[in-house]
Amino acid sequence: MPIPKAELHIHIEGTLEPELAFTLAHRNGLTLPHTDVDALKRAYSFTDLQSFLDLYYALMDVLRTEADFTDLARAYLDRAAQQGVRHAEIFFDPQAHTNRGISLDTVIHGLTAALATSQDTHGISTTLILCFLRDRPATEALDTLHQARPHLDHISAVGLDSAEIDNPPENFTEVFAAARDLGLHRVAHAGEEGPASYIWQALNLLGAERIDHGIRCLDDTDLVSHLATTQTPLTVCPLSNVRLRAVPTLDQHPLPALMDAGLLVTVNSDDPSYFGGYVHDNYQALHTHLGLDATQLRQLARNSFTASFLPPERKAQLIAEVDAHPDPW
Ligand code: ADE
Ligand code: ZN
Repeated sequence: MPIPKAELHIHIEGTLEPELAFTLAHRNGLTLPHTDVDALKRAYSFTDLQSFLDLYYALMDVLRTEADFTDLARAYLDRAAQQGVRHAEIFFDPQAHTNRGISLDTVIHGLTAALATSQDTHGISTTLILCFLRDRPATEALDTLHQARPHLDHISAVGLDSAEIDNPPENFTEVFAAARDLGLHRVAHAGEEGPASYIWQALNLLGAERIDHGIRCLDDTDLVSHLATTQTPLTVCPLSNVRLRAVPTLDQHPLPALMDAGLLVTVNSDDPSYFGGYVHDNYQALHTHLGLDATQLRQLARNSFTASFLPPERKAQLIAEVDAHPDPW
């Protein structure tokens, strides 16, 4: 059994496997532009973040009903259980659904129907992180937060995702302040493709408590010192970075440098159906391609719980499970 871990950077829409996409398309009377599963898989070849996002948003069209969202989340949780996940903080992109006429109620009722059984079925605790799309207007983000107010029992945090370059965090200062006032945690994608200055903005203007990706922090030594001192977690996604060409090859991934700099690094899967692996596959790839040893992988598993929004007692309990586990692979 893989080592226990938390998954802190997973877009539920990015877990849509090609087979499920075809099943849902058929159920909803839709025809995908790809002839079959193999043809769709051949389209999973990306040159940058935007080239991936184009397919990611297009394929979401198959998600129409509550049952579709439930099936999506249930399939993810089944896989997460096999990968040793004990706690998942799950991103979802409401605007990608509401902007095509699917109500927020449909999305949240569908997802939470699956999440409600995951503790009993798999021993996985879950929560949702509502992400704002940074390539959409900030007013739309404010409206989305307003619509989400009846559902805040299920939502622990807000996040910021989608196309990073030319969409700086500063544009979302107001909506993140409003989320803080509602008692929500704040996280933000920054420094995936965009500059280190976007990480500073996420910290200083959005009050981000974790940085999603954050690998470009290495361009700014003051920022690295700051992240190390404050132990602000980075949710790093190695297989994603290679598939989206933020990093040329896995052997050249900066994760060891980030750990050596004393940062609170976690390993995550981002959009696993598109990037060739779920969270434990990312751990294993770090062992195979970068030579991370059992001690380092165990530290990454501990970090995943430390960096979570779980209460301190639960973190301590899960970290003890990590320490009691035999070799991490
Ligand atoms: N939405 C889904 N995956 C993403 C990523 N890697 N970066 C930004 N937005 C995303
Ligand atoms: Zn992401």
